[in-house]
Amino acid sequence: MKTVAVVGIQWGDEGKGKIVDLLAHDADIVVRYQGGNNAAHTLVVGGDKFILRLIPSGALLREKVCVLGNGMVVDPVALLGEIDDLKRKGFALNPGRLKISYDAHLVMPYHRAIDRSREAHLGKRAIGTTGFGIGPAYEDKMSRLGLRFDDLVDLNTFTEKLRRNIRDKNAHLRAVLKAKTVPAEPIVAAMRTARRRLLPYLCDTGAFLDDAIRAGQSVLFEGAHGTMLDIDHGTYPYVTSSNCVASAVFAGSGIGPASLDAVLGISKAYTTRVGAGPFPSEMFGTLADSVREEGVEFGSATGRPRRIGWFDAAVARHSVRVNGLWGIAITKLDVLTGIDPLQICVGYDVRGKRYDAMPPGRHMLDRVKPVYEEMPGWRDDLTGARTMNDLPAAARRYLVRLAELTGVRLAMVGVGAARESTIVLANPFHS
Ligand code: IMP
Ligand code: MG
Repeated sequence: MKTVAVVGIQWGDEGKGKIVDLLAHDADIVVRYQGGNNAAHTLVVGGDKFILRLIPSGALLREKVCVLGNGMVVDPVALLGEIDDLKRKGFALNPGRLKISYDAHLVMPYHRAIDRSREAHLGKRAIGTTGFGIGPAYEDKMSRLGLRFDDLVDLNTFTEKLRRNIRDKNAHLRAVLKAKTVPAEPIVAAMRTARRRLLPYLCDTGAFLDDAIRAGQSVLFEGAHGTMLDIDHGTYPYVTSSNCVASAVFAGSGIGPASLDAVLGISKAYTTRVGAGPFPSEMFGTLADSVREEGVEFGSATGRPRRIGWFDAAVARHSVRVNGLWGIAITKLDVLTGIDPLQICVGYDVRGKRYDAMPPGRHMLDRVKPVYEEMPGWRDDLTGARTMNDLPAAARRYLVRLAELTGVRLAMVGVGAARESTIVLANPFHS
């Protein structure tokens, strides 16, 4: 298969970075198609640690082309910071290797200001956003007030629109959110500099991808966040502001549905989420604390401790359906070592009625009682395993049960942080 999308099937942070990195070796082009720097993929290569928020993981493989698709919202200053950091560490991205869609939207300082003060304003009803202005930037996109990379081409009209937006947003910050306003001149000046540096990267990325696919090149679409954070199919309103499901590949990159060969879903062997909102299989107390420590479950975008829970098969089934998954990769299995017994949430009970996937009407999610199935754990170190046979029988049985419950092929299993600590049962690019 030539074109593959990777999506998170939980609440983000499923360990997509590592799987994308592994698959990027087989791709010519790696594409981000939604979200912004609210995403964060941590990669360790040659002893250096990289946190990529906007630039696809392909940046660390020297011959790959990275694309920021039209569906993204991009903070230009954050993007330049990432480009510079990569360059310092020996991974220069010239315009031949980094293509930014003219149609991607710009995240501006007033978006961040609104995001943060709105969260403060919401008090107990806060979403727990990353505070990077993502929601307000998508709002401007939908209300047709947004600024795009395309607007940068003509500096005068851009500056005019920018000043008008700053004025309007400041009025909102002041009057509605009772918050500090953002000063116009430093933003205008910063954008003038950013513009000069970014113009060479602008590209009709949809046409570029279409040409590449017709020419037989391999393309990897790197999803950000996770299905349960999807604006339509997640736990609204405790979601991010973009579609994170696989169908976002098309609207967010400009290729058609027939051009995508397979979707690989990524799930942890357990579950985490940051921010507020329903989480039926959440666990608490010392067990949750030890999984958090063992799995280093602290947000890479914000440093917040993540909430911890058992694997939830109802969430997984929902995600299999809305993403049309070809297969599933289970990450961080090694984190469960030493926990005995293990629980799997196999469905929900709502006032005596059993649900195997999301109950109709997400309002029910607050009331569901998770139904658990118990499985024996294991004590052996898994990090050296490279085939299923290297795993202790209990770990194998746990994986087989997850695959059974989700109904899709088990394609990969992560057994440690390192790139090589992965069991590959099926690689979509080789199928
Ligand atoms: P926003 O995307 O910053 O608006 O945040 C909305 C919700 O999505 C919050 O609960 C965030 O913690 C969550 N979120 C956004 N991006 C990610 C991610 O990449 N991983 C995990 N959670 C995320
Ligand atoms: Mg992350």
